[in-house]
Amino acid sequence: MSEYGKTLDIIFGRWRSQILYVGVKLGVFDSITSDPKNASDVAKELGLDPALTYRLLRALGSMGLLREEPNSKFSMTSQGEFLRKDHPQTLRGVTLLEEGPEHYAIWRHLPAMITDGQQDSFVREYGHKIFEHTHKNHEYCEVFNQAMSSYSAIQTAWVLDALDGYDFSKIHHLCDIGGGQGHLLSNLLVKYSQMKGTVFELESVTKNKELLLAPKLGVKERCSYVDGDMFSEVPSADAYMMKMILHDWSDQECVRILSNIHISSPEHAKVLIAEHIVPGPETPHFSKLFDIHMMCVATGKERTVGEYSLILEQAGWKYVQTLNPGSGLISVIEGSKLR
Ligand SMILES: C[S@@+](CC[C@H](N)C(=O)[O-])C[C@H]1O[C@@H](n2cnc3c(N)ncnc32)[C@H](O)[C@@H]1O
Repeated sequence: MSEYGKTLDIIFGRWRSQILYVGVKLGVFDSITSDPKNASDVAKELGLDPALTYRLLRALGSMGLLREEPNSKFSMTSQGEFLRKDHPQTLRGVTLLEEGPEHYAIWRHLPAMITDGQQDSFVREYGHKIFEHTHKNHEYCEVFNQAMSSYSAIQTAWVLDALDGYDFSKIHHLCDIGGGQGHLLSNLLVKYSQMKGTVFELESVTKNKELLLAPKLGVKERCSYVDGDMFSEVPSADAYMMKMILHDWSDQECVRILSNIHISSPEHAKVLIAEHIVPGPETPHFSKLFDIHMMCVATGKERTVGEYSLILEQAGWKYVQTLNPGSGLISVIEGSKLR
């Protein structure tokens, strides 16, 4: 592609993600299978307008997410499979959150925020911060939690890979701070059978018991869900996992979270921070884009290893090492107690 074409392609990126979003939102990917199906039958099944449905399916076909066959029929492609509800690595939740109305709306404040230096898009749009929004808006909360488990479907594999070979023998109790529905912790408990675990979360996440993953993965005897606020007090444990937590918060807020863990934990405690790590200027990386999303969604940011070392140190921890998966976009930073 020419340089002009590449720039043009970026300009129209939103069209693609919105077309995909609408396909997911309307249930297209759960209606179409490998057997070619007429667009009008899809429309009838989903209660949609047939002519406009055909045009939507054609656009999805043009992006490789469906296959357009003769006579207005469509079948599923291997790429489109990832958008099905029942796919083990489903990206449905991620799509519904990241291209849904709230996250679409908050991006419009980006120019003003960068001008003013005030990172408060959610407040500008809704009058409150993101985790108040999950608390107040049931539908958004459901989509948010679904998206976190959806992200985890792939991120858990990266974290397990990064931690393969890590010495878990002295970790009898692992606490996952802001552990969502327990996707990562339950998978760690499956792999390390000597360990028990605690998912420490907001009540809005844990109250819907049918969605919690420990019972589904057969580790409910060793996994408890504890409601609380990481800015007040956290449970005592040998080690603490935090996946996609610190990137939600400013340096000051991260130091408070890490200090609370420091206060509650024994001398031998470890912290394991799973995040997108920002590489040097010569390397293009997804973290540099995710960072702009964090600018819109919360008070946080994506950080370099050096920036993580600094906040660890300010909260009484020392940076030990960064563990990288063989492939994948997130790494795990280990910290141990400084004093
Ligand atoms: C970006 S999500 C990450 C969830 C999970 N660790 C994952 O990677 O899928 C951040 C999580 O932090 C939780 N959280 C936010 N504020 C919290 C607080 N004050 N105390 C405990 N958990 C909190 C949210 O409910 C949410 O599940």
